[in-house]
This record gives sequence, C-alpha cells and structure tokens, in this order.
Amino acid sequence: MNDRHLVDPDNGVISREIFVSDEVFDEELERIFARTWLFLGHESQIPTTGDFFNSRMGTESVLLTRDTDGEIHALLNSCRHRGMKVCRYDEGNTHDFVCPYHGWSYSTDGTLVATAGELFGVPHYRAGYGGNLDRSQWGLVPTAQLVNHHGLIFATWDPEAPPFDTYIGGFRHWLDNLAASTAGERGRVKVFRGVQKWRIRSNWKFVSENFLGDNYHGPTSHSSVDAVGIGPGGKHAATRHGDNKRPRSVASTSFPDLGHGGVTTAGYAWGYPSFAEPEIDAFFQRRWRQRLERLEAEGRPIGAFGPSTLFPSMSLHAGGFPRALIVAHPVGPTETEVWRWYLIDDDLPAEVESWLRHWYLRYSGPAGLVEQDDMENWDYATEASTGTIARRYPYNYQLGLHMATPSEDLDDAVESSYFMTEENARNYYRRWSSLMSSTSWAEIEERTGRR
Ligand code: FES
Ligand SMILES: [Fe+2]
Repeated sequence: MNDRHLVDPDNGVISREIFVSDEVFDEELERIFARTWLFLGHESQIPTTGDFFNSRMGTESVLLTRDTDGEIHALLNSCRHRGMKVCRYDEGNTHDFVCPYHGWSYSTDGTLVATAGELFGVPHYRAGYGGNLDRSQWGLVPTAQLVNHHGLIFATWDPEAPPFDTYIGGFRHWLDNLAASTAGERGRVKVFRGVQKWRIRSNWKFVSENFLGDNYHGPTSHSSVDAVGIGPGGKHAATRHGDNKRPRSVASTSFPDLGHGGVTTAGYAWGYPSFAEPEIDAFFQRRWRQRLERLEAEGRPIGAFGPSTLFPSMSLHAGGFPRALIVAHPVGPTETEVWRWYLIDDDLPAEVESWLRHWYLRYSGPAGLVEQDDMENWDYATEASTGTIARRYPYNYQLGLHMATPSEDLDDAVESSYFMTEENARNYYRRWSSLMSSTSWAEIEERTGRR
C-alpha cells in the first residue's frame, strides 16, 4: 500500500480511503493495533486476587486479570485448544478460566493448569495424551509488555515496541492528570463500575481525531446542547469558574513524532465548572485550590487538561469534567466499538458521587447529549464517504497549516496558539503514516531520529 499517496500532512490533504477501505483496515490491524501500546483498563476494576475484566485490544478479546500473587496480566481470551473464548463475562472473580468447549483450564496468570482427576486441567490428560502434552507451551497468550501507569494499565503485543515512557513522551502530563484526583493526588481515582460499550457506524479514527483537539466543531455541533444548558450549573455544557491564573492562551499541543495531541491551557488552568448545588460547588472549589497548590509544589504543568488523544485510539478528558476516557476499538472500516470509562476520586462523599454520575451520563456516552452530537457527525460523515464518487475526493486538513510553533512548555511538542487548528490531526496522521509504511519499530524510530 502506498500510504504516502493517501496521507499528505504537509499539505493538509488526506484520502477518504483510509476511512473506508477494507485493505487499509486490515493493514491497520497488523501495523498499528498489533504493535502500539493500548489501554486495557484501570487497576480499580481488578482490586483483589482472582478479579478479571474482559477487555479488548484492536479486534481481539483480552482478559485483564489479577493472579493469586496480586500480579496483573493481559491474556488473549482464546483457548489454545480450538480457540473458544475461555471467558464470556464482562468482569468477575474466578480461581480458573475453564474453557466451555472441551474443558481445558487456565489459572489467572494464563498457565494451563495441572490435571486433577481426569476432568479438570486438561481432561483425559493421562489416558488421552499419555501425559505427554507439554502444558508449559499451551498457556493463554500473554501480551509482550504491560505497564501500570498510576493505575492506568497499558499493554502491547510487540516485544520490540519502545518502552512505554518513550512511547508516551510529553503526553504523560495528560495521562498523569487523568490518573490524579481532583485535588491532584496521583493514583487516587477509581472507575465507576460498569464500562459503557456500544457500536457506531463510523471509522475508528473519527473518534480519536475528534478528541485530540478538534475545537473547530464545537460551536457548530454543540450549540443546541449549550442552549439547553446541561452543565452542572444548569447553564452551558460546562460553565467554569473564573481562571485562577493569568491566561497565556488556550492552545492545541501535539507531538509530531509520536502522534498524540490535546487541548492545553499552557501556563494557566481552566478551573472546575460551577455547580448549582452550593455545597458541591464549595467542595470542588476547595479541591481545585488544593490541586493548584500540589501541582505547583511538585513542578507539574497545570495546563495539560483538555480533551486529548493518545495514539492510536485512547482519548481522554484529562483533568476537567466529566473525567472520562474513551477507547475506539476497530471492528471494520466503517464500524467501531466504543468503550467509555468514567473516573472519580476514590474518596468522594456519596451525594457528590451521585451528582457526578448523573452529569457524566447526560454529557457523555451513548445517552449523553454531547456525545450524541459527535456520533451523528462521525456516522453520517462515514456513510457519505463510502460512495464511488465520494472516495475520489480527499478531506481537507488545512486549518492552521504552517502556523504551529515549538512549545514553550514541553519538549518535542508543537503548539498552535490559535486554538482552531488541525495541526494535531496532521501530526496524528503523520504518525499513522509512519507506522503503516514501516515494517519494524527500528525503522520508525530511525526516521524520527529516536534511535
Ligand atoms: S476449545 Fe477450549 S478446550 Fe477445546
Ligand atoms: Fe464534540
């Protein structure tokens, strides 16, 4: 595939083929989803030994488990005997995964367990296999690398993939904000139990692109939601308290070599929204002040805050509200399974938690009014791009072309001070193109001067 022909970030032109073609999609599974670091879940979803969460990487089902020693594993949910899903629950707790087809059993670290009697472990192990089956070779397939980043768990199938810290680069500030409480304490968040999952008739990249800094669509697409006033203060989607620092600007920041990008408020912070309930408003204003003090004391940037995307498919609302992350799992070129996690501080009073639950759900997810606006765009844009004639005409990504400058705050980043820009998207597709046209990580990193 000649991807250079399809993607031209320098001139802001990108072929519709990468959003609708079966051939491109198959290549993406191999070159992107089998090689990059992907998000699987949060450690609060599997707090005790034997806990599991049935997650997903690309098109594949992957079990996130905590074994009897408390170690976390990511295991391909496919029996090594004949491929049956060894677990069909969304989440739970178990001692072993017993395959429903012929009964092979795996422990929570993926080991094919020793036979106890003739019906557990590998049924008929002694009589049928003569005891000769080498169980050590037939465990569930583990990911090649796994990290727990302040509670956020990521893994990759590629042993050659760069270390996670190298892979995320300066985007760690957005991830750190996501994984910190509203008072800025690292690791003090948990997931609202129940991850939302639904399918949309859109290419997966529409989701990632939307969150990595498409400020352009807001005023047009979300004006009705603002007019209705679904925010916690009963006004716009998220009316905020005054800024606590002198603003430099709201900017779009992206990492040209890495593909990640987000909205940032470099040098100042947005502030939390105003809440209609006086006690809840006071509660979050208190947390906001604590957060500013903590970040300043620890020398952490306060601006990495807005919507953002970690290449390829994890997007987040890092430090604001609703505190949430979304993963766009590819299903086919024009179908995506979307998963949404909602995060909250691990010590919220029940009434605050309940308040947030209601707001999160009316804002985001399949029933969220803001997300519905977005999904409508992605679905209709995909549908109107699949026709023979439509596919001949590329998309335009020229907003803010050649207007970005090196970031003042972050290494290897560029910033567009006029926040209506498609610079972040251009850099995202630059990375996409680099992965799609390279056969190895060594080649990719050589090109970007990182090796
Ligand atoms: S497919 Fe799992 S035991 Fe046969
Ligand atoms: Fe939107």
